[in-house]
Amino acid sequence: MSTEASKGAEALAAGLKPPPLGAEGRPEPEQILFGTTEPPPFPEHNIFPLQWTVETAKLVDIYEAARDPGWAPHLLEWESLKKESFSPDQRYAIAYWFALLSVFDSSGPAVFARAMIHSYETHEEDPVRKCFFSVTRDEVNHEEICQRVIARLTPGGPLGYTPETALGRLAQNNVRWYYHNGARYWTGFKGSIGKYPLAILFTSFLMGELAAATLFHGMHLNTSIPVLAEAFRCIGKDEARHMGICMAMIRKLLPALDDEQRLMITRQLRAGYVFLSGILYEPPDQFWDLPETFTPAHRLLEDCARDAGLGVLSLEQRAENWRAAVLRMKGVIEPYGIAFPAIPEIGIDGETVAFDPDDIVPVF
Ligand SMILES: [Fe+2]
Ligand SMILES: [Fe+2]
Repeated sequence: MSTEASKGAEALAAGLKPPPLGAEGRPEPEQILFGTTEPPPFPEHNIFPLQWTVETAKLVDIYEAARDPGWAPHLLEWESLKKESFSPDQRYAIAYWFALLSVFDSSGPAVFARAMIHSYETHEEDPVRKCFFSVTRDEVNHEEICQRVIARLTPGGPLGYTPETALGRLAQNNVRWYYHNGARYWTGFKGSIGKYPLAILFTSFLMGELAAATLFHGMHLNTSIPVLAEAFRCIGKDEARHMGICMAMIRKLLPALDDEQRLMITRQLRAGYVFLSGILYEPPDQFWDLPETFTPAHRLLEDCARDAGLGVLSLEQRAENWRAAVLRMKGVIEPYGIAFPAIPEIGIDGETVAFDPDDIVPVF
């Protein structure tokens, strides 16, 4: 029997009616159904077909709570941040710090938007996709904070203004070098995002969110510039919510990992330390490609920003903060049988692992 004939027999057996003879009148649904066929198979890694499945109720709750983050960058008291309140070097130094922050927080929108597209292509459950969307939106707000501070203190900055002092010129040179490294990170991230299962992405993301929450909490307490204290508080709250998303995913995904995937996580955690130290601590040379002038200029600029009230923590305080954050991370993942990498820079024992500097997926 031909396929068409067998389909006809099946349709008849299912009680469907054969198509109408001629084209008179409107056919009944059963008659149209008689002739239906299926489309070709859906290509792999395509966003279609769309479905809205829910596996992790906790993520639905987090997304609902994130619909209104409770703040918006344009509503902060920007008028109180006056150019005239600072010396030129202080303005350059504060704007410089936000330009460095922008390597992390202003790459956030593009990084999470990619992750969101990826989550559609891999047909993740609906709340995972929605949470990526909400993180993307938050990161756009964080980017705007960097943008607004820089625009108020160094209009045209970070690169399009002409500094009047040597320290200002050093700031711009350092920022160009940071953006060079940011560009390398972006190239690596784009290539890596499709390579890793979600469990690995989320563990890497957690490291970034933990770092971010720690940083903003510390600066909120330390700055003497009111509008920035409020900005840091709001961003810190968002970052804590991002941590919650990562934790919910990790609890779901980590129990099912194999040995190879566990090792990948150990490597990515080391990568996370190296990359995120660029803002949390000081950039180590394992990934960061920087000239010899970078660190001495960076320290002068940080001292100047601190004197101006930005709330930059001392190196010792930052090492201590980073250590506390990393230990929290260790506490989360070790129960799943994942070895923690050695981070001797801040006194953390663990496994010595290599990682590929072109293969970094942590985000902020
Ligand atoms: Fe952020
Ligand atoms: Fe974040």
